[in-house]
Amino acid sequence: MAGTKKLLRALAGEAMEVPPIWMMRQAGRYLPEYRATRAQAGDFLSLCYNPDLAAEVTLQPIRRFGFDAAILFADILLVPQALGADLWFETGEGPRLSTVTTEEDLARLKPAGAIHDHLAPVYETVRILARELPEEVALIGFAGAPWTVATYMVAGRGTPDQGPAHALMAGNPALFDALIERLTEATIAYLSRQIEAGAEVVKIFDSWAGSLRGAAFDRYAVAPCRRITQALKERHPGIPVIGFPREAGDRYAGFARATGVDCVALDNSVDPEWAAAHVQIDGCVQGNLDPRHMVTGGPALVEATRRVVEAFSGGPHIFNLGHGITPEADPANVQLMIDTVRGRG
Ligand code: CP3
Repeated sequence: MAGTKKLLRALAGEAMEVPPIWMMRQAGRYLPEYRATRAQAGDFLSLCYNPDLAAEVTLQPIRRFGFDAAILFADILLVPQALGADLWFETGEGPRLSTVTTEEDLARLKPAGAIHDHLAPVYETVRILARELPEEVALIGFAGAPWTVATYMVAGRGTPDQGPAHALMAGNPALFDALIERLTEATIAYLSRQIEAGAEVVKIFDSWAGSLRGAAFDRYAVAPCRRITQALKERHPGIPVIGFPREAGDRYAGFARATGVDCVALDNSVDPEWAAAHVQIDGCVQGNLDPRHMVTGGPALVEATRRVVEAFSGGPHIFNLGHGITPEADPANVQLMIDTVRGRG
């Protein structure tokens, strides 16, 4: 089943001397070819909904660097848009959405099963990629986790502390739970279609899991991830799932067992040695080089890269950054990281 693709072998539990590599946000503004294609598309959302150009930007980092995996080019906020929210990106600032803070707002959203017409271009991008990727490169589909997507839908934008979502959770738990429920169902439907279109792995991005504590972490990070993973495994046995409860800290330990994910992606706030002892004991891990090394480079990059490879060398590991590569990164530093991981540094 895992075949010869390195990424799938690691996800099946194989420890390798040279781990597979890919990078979060590997298609992005640090690449001149991405900026050119985005300009051709007009803007970011037009790029997401143009299957030929979205496939093109997905392939660019594969051609340039020879990564072991490609990640579908799209965004976690396409799901709220498919549910009927307004979405736009303010240049230099980030996403803006119409908000969901009342029962009436929730009632205006579409049912989870009604997202597919809007998202059809994304499924088409996956089909193009499944055809065009080199045979050794695995295709990763993705969605945002319900909590993270809800934080944007409640606030109407990114927030430093997810305050509006926490306030709704406390002030109107029934409404908040209903929003999480809608997003959980939509995410299952969306990822299922990506798999049917050719995604070989899916990743659930819970970028703001770190602001959930105690019982709230169980209820809004663990439980939805478990439901999504179980539903996907029933429908698509053999498709691995990567969970990314970013900044979960000590809650990374046991996350794979609690949710059923095949791999836990780690941010760079946890020491790789700690994560090897407490997270990798349950299976594959992904991560966790500090993305700042892609800006600063040099011997510190080489040393930190070797430390991550070494710390996880005893078990299944996918080399990655702890979060997305940033626009000011230097592509030469990405090459240096890859050469270091592959023993050519
Ligand atoms: O990793 C990849 O290369 C695949 C594509 C991808 C994008 N967004 C493209 C993107 C993925 C997997 C995402 C996920 C995503 N989107 C997350 C979860 C992961 C994370 O970073 O924590 C979140 C929170 C979002 C929401 C989002 N999209 C924000 C907050 C922003 C603005 C911040 C920024 O970097 O500008 C985006 C825009 C976005 N999504 C860009 C890209 C390449 C930059 C858009 C541009 O080209 O101007």
